[in-house]
Amino acid sequence: MARKKIALIGAGNIGGTLAHLIGLKELGDVVLFDVFPGVAAGKALDIMQSGPVDGFDSAMSGTNDYAAIAGADVVIVTAGFPRMPGMSRDDLLTKNAGVIAQVAEGIKTHCPDAFVICITNPLDVMVWVMQQKSGLPAHKVIGMAGVLDSSRFRLFLAQEFNVSVEDVTAFVLGGHGDTMVPLTRYSTVAGIPVPDLIKMGWTTQEKIDAIVARTANGGGEIVKLLEKGSAFYAPAASAIAMAEAYLLDKKRVLPAAVMLNGEYGLKDFYVGVPVVIGAGGAERIVEVQFTAEEKAAFDKSCDAVKKLIEDFKKLGV
Ligand code: APR
Repeated sequence: MARKKIALIGAGNIGGTLAHLIGLKELGDVVLFDVFPGVAAGKALDIMQSGPVDGFDSAMSGTNDYAAIAGADVVIVTAGFPRMPGMSRDDLLTKNAGVIAQVAEGIKTHCPDAFVICITNPLDVMVWVMQQKSGLPAHKVIGMAGVLDSSRFRLFLAQEFNVSVEDVTAFVLGGHGDTMVPLTRYSTVAGIPVPDLIKMGWTTQEKIDAIVARTANGGGEIVKLLEKGSAFYAPAASAIAMAEAYLLDKKRVLPAAVMLNGEYGLKDFYVGVPVVIGAGGAERIVEVQFTAEEKAAFDKSCDAVKKLIEDFKKLGV
């Protein structure tokens, strides 16, 4: 059986890290596409040259020709401009929507059967633009945000409790950004929900509130430290988990930005919810029961995403 083909649109910080992880995990061959083909080809060659040391055979190439992504099984999209200090994700809207429209055309023409994972910010709107412009079925176009947000949440909880990250699960819903909704009720240490851990004296509500706030601002914290550009190691690892779930038909339950079609009483826009990812793409949306407070937070987050989509429509990009 031939190796899987993974196209990475955008060969910047996340794109390069994705290619490296794909090699290390032997997920398939890689085509790196960028408007700067030299950067794409250089990174492809550099990573391929680590193959003999690390023991992988993935073929990697760089290009600025969309024909090279023909027949890709998975496409991961990071093309666009990263968020700079002082810039909100939403400021990126106009610039990145134009880029995503171009990428959507390339995918529609050359690999319309691919599973597409968008990372470009502002995420929930960009993934919607990708689906609309490419015309691919909504279950084959999803956005990466929740895996990253919940990974950040898990890390901070593990540090607070002084336990392994492996034993911490976290549950994050809503749009990617300040209105993200971490559900502490569904976040656990070895199955023990966070509210119970508060009762057990492991932590306090104040500390959990601070962790929730830090998680929601997780991207901003890194932008401020890096000064040039935004996070890339954890975003790349998160997208790889989603690609792996699809390629290996793992049926993982992961939070991702998916098109709602009546779930949660909402439809026709993308927002972060738990979803089963397997060979069928986004196979099933998990609808959890909210408390009144959680419902209000989720609605607020959805309203923020819907407003951005309305803003985008007015721009007529
Ligand atoms: N087509 C293809 N590639 C493009 C295009 C385009 N029209 N426009 C820009 N690019 C490329 C850039 O040349 C650059 O190499 O996209 C790449 C983006 O890489 P970085 O600037 O290093 O950004 P990165 O850190 O990888 O983040 C990419 O993910 O998390 C989000 O907010 C982040 O939107 C940003 C995206």
